[in-house]
Amino acid sequence: MAHLIAPSLLSADFARLAQAVELVHHSPAPWLHLDVMDGLFVPNISFGPPVIKAIRPLTNKVFDVHLMIMDPDRYIGAFRDAGADRLSVHLEACTHLHRTIQAIKAAGMKAGVAINPHTPVHLLTEVLTDLDQVIVMSVNPGFGGQRFIPGTYRKLNALAEMRQVHGATLQIEVDGGVSLENYAEIADHGADALVAGNSVFGAPDPAAAIRSMSA
Ligand code: DX5
Ligand code: ZN
Repeated sequence: MAHLIAPSLLSADFARLAQAVELVHHSPAPWLHLDVMDGLFVPNISFGPPVIKAIRPLTNKVFDVHLMIMDPDRYIGAFRDAGADRLSVHLEACTHLHRTIQAIKAAGMKAGVAINPHTPVHLLTEVLTDLDQVIVMSVNPGFGGQRFIPGTYRKLNALAEMRQVHGATLQIEVDGGVSLENYAEIADHGADALVAGNSVFGAPDPAAAIRSMSA
């Protein structure tokens, strides 16, 4: 099954962000994954709309923005204005998830929902056909460089089946602990997009790592 790699800027050298974006720009990766953390939903703080806006002119790659923030409805317009193409919110952070998904689409972006490792995929049933993507977290969100949780494979099987049964067109993205060792197996379980942070920017040759995992 064909899959794409979405390098995560979280593992790049923040003192050389432009260099990291340019590396992705010249790579086969069609998406750049951008992890936004608020220090409340997750125990870490990363970056927000101003940083995304600053790097937007450097590439025309798809900006895949993953919001790990509480009450994301407040910032949908800000991320659209900063240049997000795809915007994903966490199911666990949204009281009115259906409304949030519609608001993201009304703002002109592709809408995604991310689920934590403890969240079963069946909780997405009622919004499945509204979604452009589901991010299945394969680590507990907040940090790069963590180990892939093997139970994710079961969730991927279940989600791929749900997608088929409901005739949904969403893309399945896996986020956390993706490496050269496991990327092929993850793709075999139905993942369309694989986020790769540490396995790209922690590699001696990040461009070669993207090329290897894109194959
Ligand atoms: C984790 C983030 C991930 C992170 C993945 O909270 O959502 O996107 O950058 O990093 P790696 O690939 O290093 O696990
Ligand atoms: Zn992410």
